[in-house]
Amino acid sequence: MDKKSKMLEIKTEIIDNKTLPLYEYRKQNGYHPVIGQGDHDTKIIFIGEAPGEKEALSGTPFCGASGRILNELLISIGLQREAVYITNIVKDRPPKNRDPSIEEVEAYSPYLIRQLEIIKPKVIVTLGRHAMQLMLKILGLSQIDQQISVLHGKLIDIPEHDHAQKLLPLYHPAVALYSPSQKKVLEVDFQILKSVID
Ligand code: URA
Repeated sequence: MDKKSKMLEIKTEIIDNKTLPLYEYRKQNGYHPVIGQGDHDTKIIFIGEAPGEKEALSGTPFCGASGRILNELLISIGLQREAVYITNIVKDRPPKNRDPSIEEVEAYSPYLIRQLEIIKPKVIVTLGRHAMQLMLKILGLSQIDQQISVLHGKLIDIPEHDHAQKLLPLYHPAVALYSPSQKKVLEVDFQILKSVID
């Protein structure tokens, strides 16, 4: 099966999986699950937390305010949004944009792992602490107990793992919405990504 068909299979499973903790909430609100968007052959995958309302209404990741920041950051390093893959840990919007629960992360993360197996990126870029913590756990990395304030912008080697070669934890773009200094941090950290892809 080709990559597109495998990804479509994941999409269909998520749409139909009534046991997902946010399935009912999705249906009640006329939301769509947000599977991911971009190039299945990319070397770079971005993993956010969960869709917001705009994303759940459209089915597109990072298309609201945080997405505007992400787009700016991608442009700042000359990367086309279409040339990377963008997804989230949790594929449905949690009520009132609250943090995803442990149960939600557990229910949705097998889909993310399958997406990583399909794309086989070289670099996994996590956006925010939830995605960072999950990937450190999945990849069995020793930095598991470290805070995002320590690990952001640090390129971490992934030893002997099929999923990818490097992990780059970044702050979530939402932090830059109201804080110019946090935006600067993200801009500096994105330069690390640029140095990897150059
Ligand atoms: N925040 C996220 O983490 N993901 C999105 O898709 C949008 C906002």
